[in-house]
Amino acid sequence: MTSATLTKPRVMSGMRPTGGLHLGHLVGVLTQWANFCDTAEAYFEIADLHAYTTGFEDPQAIRDARNEMVAVWLAAGVDPRKATIFLQSAVPEIAELHTLLSMIVPVSWLERVPTYKGQIDALGSEIATYGFLGYPLLQLCDIAIVRGERVPVGRDQVAHLELGREVVRRFNHLYGDGAEVLVEPHPTLTEFAEVPGSDGRKMSKSYDNAILIADSEEVTTKKVRAYFTDPQKLRRNDPGRPEVCPIFALWKFVNPLKLDGIAAECRSGALGCVADKSDFAEQLNAYLRPVREKLAIYRDDPVQVERIIAEGTARTRAIASAVLADVKRAMRLL
Ligand code: TRP
Repeated sequence: MTSATLTKPRVMSGMRPTGGLHLGHLVGVLTQWANFCDTAEAYFEIADLHAYTTGFEDPQAIRDARNEMVAVWLAAGVDPRKATIFLQSAVPEIAELHTLLSMIVPVSWLERVPTYKGQIDALGSEIATYGFLGYPLLQLCDIAIVRGERVPVGRDQVAHLELGREVVRRFNHLYGDGAEVLVEPHPTLTEFAEVPGSDGRKMSKSYDNAILIADSEEVTTKKVRAYFTDPQKLRRNDPGRPEVCPIFALWKFVNPLKLDGIAAECRSGALGCVADKSDFAEQLNAYLRPVREKLAIYRDDPVQVERIIAEGTARTRAIASAVLADVKRAMRLL
């Protein structure tokens, strides 16, 4: 068998348009998405309906974040000629599938997904809507509507996919008549899940510790200067511990060739944090420069971004309507 006859796996993933994409998204997620454009048949979704689960009070923010997020995807190398980028709310088949599957999903299955209670504890009981309870089911529908098999996600999403597989099995068992009408999705864990922010915690927009893709070089340099380092390295010549230093962790992504040298000089006390940070800020800006340049081009061309989304959404709907028809047929609705 030649490589041309091997079918590529169907990869599907999505992101909520909440704004503020940062270095963690770039090295942890988008680089991988860009690779999947070549190695997989890839679908990437703007999960705008999911954004309403926690952001329903500010619909304009969701609307504004949509094109900006896609512009960052494109700037990071997601190639719309190879992958399909689509808008969740413009694929009504997803919402219909969600209604159909909701009939067979016990509420207790959704209540025991850890993010359900976890997010309510973190954000307050106002977010505990009917739609929020169904978040992981809607996520399954995003994936199942394009027959996604592999789903690149972070660790926090693994429980959602587990719920999704249980629902698929229940559906196939009840209505499949021996056939696999829906496909079980499996996570592909994103390799560099943990990118530290300026306070040493995971980089996240909500912690206000992130270096944004959209930041200027000046702001980036300022943020690097404000980064946490080894708290025991007080003076320039104190020996440091690279293994606890967030800046050292970031070097891995920006210039892995320098890691050994920096580790040795930090440990010996030859390298101070101020000098390391200024060297790092320069290299980080150089690393981000091509992405930022492309981002500026896509921002200046909203018509092109809209067209990419519209074309991908149309392609998605063609598959989605076929899958939905299979589901309805299995449920004796057609
Ligand atoms: N829940 C995902 C997150 O917060 C986003 C998402 C929505 C998603 N639909 C998806 C991810 C489908 C993978 C597949 O990160």
